[in-house]
Amino acid sequence: MILGIGTDICDVRRIEATLARKGDRFAEKVLGPNEMKVFHFRRAKVESRGVRYLATRFSAKEAFSKAIGTGIRMPMTWRSCEILNLPSGQPYIQLHGALADWFKARGLQAHVTVTDESDYAASFVVVETTHTP
Ligand SMILES: CC(C)(COP(=O)(O)OP(=O)(O)OC[C@H]1O[C@@H](n2cnc3c(N)ncnc32)[C@H](O)[C@@H]1OP(=O)(O)O)[C@@H](O)C(=O)NCCC(=O)NCCS
Repeated sequence: MILGIGTDICDVRRIEATLARKGDRFAEKVLGPNEMKVFHFRRAKVESRGVRYLATRFSAKEAFSKAIGTGIRMPMTWRSCEILNLPSGQPYIQLHGALADWFKARGLQAHVTVTDESDYAASFVVVETTHTP
């Protein structure tokens, strides 16, 4: 059964400006440890690919926070919700710590899709419950 849906659109130029102003501290605030590795890898190839990666992750985390209904408030934190990729490229959500415990205790499962085009990145998340009522 679907428990919640969430969507978000993010202005890539805003992320770029914040990154320029705050440097890596901003990326470290938003990205989890696995995402940071991908961010550095993509940015080392092409700077703009790093920015776009950060923008899609930013929007997907906000979309997830809406789908679970908390917003970016405990137990939802930026770094405890990672959006990683399967070898095929398909994104999936990997949770950590208190958020992972909270999510598991409720028998929840999340599905995510992200997209970006020139100045915008957008995401959509569906959360379903595996618990039968
Ligand atoms: C939920 C949250 C992610 C909304 O994001 P936002 O960027 O403020 O606003 P958006 O335009 O993307 O979304 C707003 C909509 O989200 C929905 N929304 C708000 N709180 C929500 C919640 N707890 N659960 C689900 N949806 C929610 C509402 O529909 C709202 O629009 P409405 O008030 O017109 O109905 C926000 O409340 C939040 O937690 N933001 C944290 C952002 C932050 O810390 N930024 C710092 C940058 S490092």
